[in-house]
Amino acid sequence: MKILVIGADGQLGTDLAKVVPKNEFVGLTIKDIDITDKARCLHVIKQHSPDVVINTAAYHHVDKCEDNEAPAFEVNTYGPKYLAQACKAVDCALVHISTDYVFDGKKGKPYVETDAPNPESIYAISKYAGEQCVKYILDKHFIVRSTGLFGTAGCLGKGGGNFVEGMIKRSQTQPELKVVTDEMLSPTYSLDLAGNINELCRTGKYGTYHMVSHGHCSWYEFALEIFKQLGRQIKINEAKAADFKPQARRPKFSALDNANLKKIGLDLMRPWQDALKAYLIEKGHLPAGQAGLKT
Ligand SMILES: NC(=O)c1ccc[n+]([C@@H]2O[C@H](COP(=O)([O-])OP(=O)(O)OC[C@H]3O[C@@H](n4cnc5c(N)ncnc54)[C@H](OP(=O)(O)O)[C@@H]3O)[C@@H](O)[C@H]2O)c1
Repeated sequence: MKILVIGADGQLGTDLAKVVPKNEFVGLTIKDIDITDKARCLHVIKQHSPDVVINTAAYHHVDKCEDNEAPAFEVNTYGPKYLAQACKAVDCALVHISTDYVFDGKKGKPYVETDAPNPESIYAISKYAGEQCVKYILDKHFIVRSTGLFGTAGCLGKGGGNFVEGMIKRSQTQPELKVVTDEMLSPTYSLDLAGNINELCRTGKYGTYHMVSHGHCSWYEFALEIFKQLGRQIKINEAKAADFKPQARRPKFSALDNANLKKIGLDLMRPWQDALKAYLIEKGHLPAGQAGLKT
């Protein structure tokens, strides 16, 4: 099997390179393929003729998307559309990564795949439209929605960091931190996500899948857990999302339930706290084999 990963130097792309067998993996960066270039998409995918394309590329600075809608729609909507058309031309499958933000957050409990999306920001609208284009064009698709990614490479689209690294960095210069309590998510380790995608994309069981680490918490609780696992005493103050005056609206509760993965017996994800511990070890914040953490 030949698996072509787009955005191979991104957070998820870097972890896909670790889990897909080397003899099956082809990693492409924006230098090899800009997904907003329709002709290039067709050319590159024809040239490699893969069995599966995994699209991790996104324009996902959520606030910037509000006033900067052109790149949001180019990368998040037209890009997946061009990829779906190219995949159809060579009869290969497309795994397209999407987001919890397609939901409005009003359900109050984890979303399953049959829940109706209601995106409420330009970023979310552009991602949902991308999903719809993929579904419309290509039967052999996997739409994989995830949330709150943390991986060792950090998120290129958000300045190369992630929430965990951001908290640790801020704690080194600020005596107290302020983190929001009124947005709930399922923090997800991108290495686990990559591993589950690698298995799913071989099944031929096409469709939409939620794929997150198990459980959910607020950003505030996520921050508390990071410092608990690190064994560090940091004062963290509760804040409301509105305190930060974000440009874009974000769902208040966008945890996901891996319902479709469970149905096919392929939910390989673990509780987010365990995934966080593995991440902290992998990133070198905790020694390898750390068993007796102050949890
Ligand atoms: N990060 C999160 O918390 C989160 C949450 C939910 C869903 N997701 C979704 O998960 C996916 C992966 O996220 P991530 O954290 O791995 O993002 P990332 O680190 O920003 O990686 C995205 C990759 O796509 C590349 N890219 C951007 N525009 C491109 C284009 N026009 N053509 C080709 N490649 C392009 C980037 O390269 P350059 O940086 O060099 O442009 C980068 O290598 C995205 O679809 C995102 O929407 C992420």
